[in-house]
Amino acid sequence: MLIKRRKGWEISENEATPESAYLNRRQLVAAGGIAAGSAILPQNAKAQGVNDWVGSLFGGGKGGSSKTDEKPDPSLKYYPMWHNQTYKLDRELTPQDVNESYNNFYEFGSHKRIARAAQALKIRPWEITIDGMVEEEIKIGIDDLMPKMKLQERLYRHRCVEAWSMTIPWSGFQMSDLVKFAKPLSSAKYIRMETFHDPDMASGQKATYQPWPYIEGVTIEEAMNELSFLVTGTYGKPMAKQHGAPLRLALPWKYGFKSIKSIVKFTFTDKRPVSFWEELQAAEYGFWANVNPKVPHRRWSQATERVLHTGNRVPTLLYNGYGEYVADLYKNVPKRERLFT
Ligand code: MTE
Repeated sequence: MLIKRRKGWEISENEATPESAYLNRRQLVAAGGIAAGSAILPQNAKAQGVNDWVGSLFGGGKGGSSKTDEKPDPSLKYYPMWHNQTYKLDRELTPQDVNESYNNFYEFGSHKRIARAAQALKIRPWEITIDGMVEEEIKIGIDDLMPKMKLQERLYRHRCVEAWSMTIPWSGFQMSDLVKFAKPLSSAKYIRMETFHDPDMASGQKATYQPWPYIEGVTIEEAMNELSFLVTGTYGKPMAKQHGAPLRLALPWKYGFKSIKSIVKFTFTDKRPVSFWEELQAAEYGFWANVNPKVPHRRWSQATERVLHTGNRVPTLLYNGYGEYVADLYKNVPKRERLFT
């Protein structure tokens, strides 16, 4: 029986440092140019403006990984990626500094300020295993995998179960590309994903009451949905380690805990995977975890969300506003199952 412990992303609203308190707009201007990305973009026309602008503003980046890396990130040459304009934002793009200093990455600590600790993450060599119900097991390095995928940049909203949100320019490739590359057997129904496990590198993994490594899972249909995106970069450069370098998931219609970081394994299976948080507290962090303003978390409402850096609290949208892409995936899932996040 698990002892109930409060998770870091369950800090109460008044405990959470308002991001405006540590990073205001003037500081961003002083930091050089990022504030331009903070122009409020409520209408499609303006969002289109972001779409035109984002790749060039962040393009040619220096690489988001640690200053302690001995060699430059070998994937730098792929940035900035082709900007896919299909996915529009209806709100402000969160400044890079905010996104890179307010993270959940329990492997490096159970609070938001893990950016410095996460620099211990060693991201090369980085081998990814694809196994289970596939024609043949594959082991491939991230630098061999990337050129096989259709690389692109997309702007997505990101909603944490803790009721805060961000908007991020992700770079990477559609998860469906990886599924096709994996050649799954028709018997496979789910994909179980696993983060690295190295307690010497990531001291958070020394916590014995947590079921390391971090695990997440999706159905094959979810993985094949055009929104499911495997991320290698943010803001036009390889992503910072604290975001889950060198490969993480972004499922913009689900609560953020489904978007597993620093993935080392994809296992195709016919059994529904039990995720890290589901194993800790199944009644609160269920398998589906679709954003739904009408289904409160057991201990707080999900009706609204705090948009980081803006000081705004806005109504939360069903499927985080991505219903036109994903609602059909759930029409046969029993309602009872969808009651938990
Ligand atoms: N993946 C791993 N391996 N470890 C984690 O602690 N946290 C999750 C998710 N993926 C987490 C993870 C949670 S709770 C959220 S909200 C997002 O990552 C946060 O992503 P961000 O820090 O890039 O905003």
